[in-house]
Amino acid sequence: MEKRISARAIIFIGDSIVSMYRENDGRKYYTFPGGGVEKGETFEQCVTREAFEEFGLRVKPLKKVYICESEKKIDHFFICKLLSGKVGDGKGEEFQPDRNRGVYKQTTIKISKIPLLPLMPPVVAQAFVKDYNKNGINLRNRAKKLYDGCENPSDLKLVLPTKKYYDQVALFKQKFLDAGSSFDGTNTLRDDDVSTWLKKCEDYRKGKNLPKGFVSATQYICVRKSDDKLVGMLQIRHQLNDFLLNYGGHIGDCIAVDERGKGYGKQILKLGLKKCKNLGIKKVLITCKDTNIASRKCILANGGKFEDKRQIDDPRNKDYGVCIERYWIEIK
Ligand SMILES: CC(C)(COP(=O)(O)OP(=O)(O)OC[C@H]1O[C@@H](n2cnc3c(N)ncnc32)[C@H](O)[C@@H]1OP(=O)(O)O)[C@@H](O)C(=O)NCCC(=O)NCCS
Repeated sequence: MEKRISARAIIFIGDSIVSMYRENDGRKYYTFPGGGVEKGETFEQCVTREAFEEFGLRVKPLKKVYICESEKKIDHFFICKLLSGKVGDGKGEEFQPDRNRGVYKQTTIKISKIPLLPLMPPVVAQAFVKDYNKNGINLRNRAKKLYDGCENPSDLKLVLPTKKYYDQVALFKQKFLDAGSSFDGTNTLRDDDVSTWLKKCEDYRKGKNLPKGFVSATQYICVRKSDDKLVGMLQIRHQLNDFLLNYGGHIGDCIAVDERGKGYGKQILKLGLKKCKNLGIKKVLITCKDTNIASRKCILANGGKFEDKRQIDDPRNKDYGVCIERYWIEIK
């Protein structure tokens, strides 16, 4: 699907910016002035036209400061100089009474109040306040790429699990149980409550209290930096025992049920491989069931070299009879 392209204006009036207050579909929020780029129009022309139609303001776009991409659209944000006009004079189509698309109210919002208000999109609002507090109205020289809805795979990081994520881990687990999803790379999460799980993760990392047949392992949780949401888990086993060499591999991972298909599976593995390097593992074995297409794609995308398939031949294993594909990745 082609993404809708829009241009938007950041217009300062003293210590405030111009904004449209909206009520629509039961939601109340604020937006930056702007709208869809029309055929044959430049971004700058679009911003200029929209500022006049929506707010009755004559503006001059000075520089592009953000490009914000979401699932359906890409918005280009420009710092604009206010030439003339007064907020409230907009006569655009949004103000026609028969339009039936909720409330439009031309307004200004104090920059210091933005963190308290639902100014859309939040990633731009946050970046704007941060840049403004640091650099004043000059903001940045080159447009910064932002992702709304956080589809940016490089927005992920691996961290050790701590109590801070207690509630998120509990919810993550519940969603896996509800979906009947496989708990790869989560240590004992399926069977333990979160407190016990946290304790075991710490113990196993240090090689303490390991059950028979277990090797020491580091459990990571994968967090999206922009909103601190837990989006996945990854476990690195520090050595291979017989079972791991044949079937389990060094790394197990999974992505939250509601965050799949955004490229996170490939990215979590990429981050995991970097951690392997820090742990001194130079040749990493990664495996997947031969029916797990998504996992195979993640392994191949990270340079996995197929070695062979092995069938789980232990009748006590819950996956008895399943075929496991084995891949190696050399870490440079
Ligand atoms: C495997 C898993 C981690 C993939 O996570 P993800 O975030 O959906 O993966 P990505 O978005 O990076 O997608 C990777 C590729 O798989 C494809 N894919 C994703 N889900 C798929 C599915 N259900 N069927 C087929 N292909 C799928 C994607 O289209 C993408 O393909 P591309 O390279 O052609 O673009 C996730 O499905 C998961 O957590 N599964 C349960 C646990 C698990 O199986 N872990 C792996 C154990 S070895």
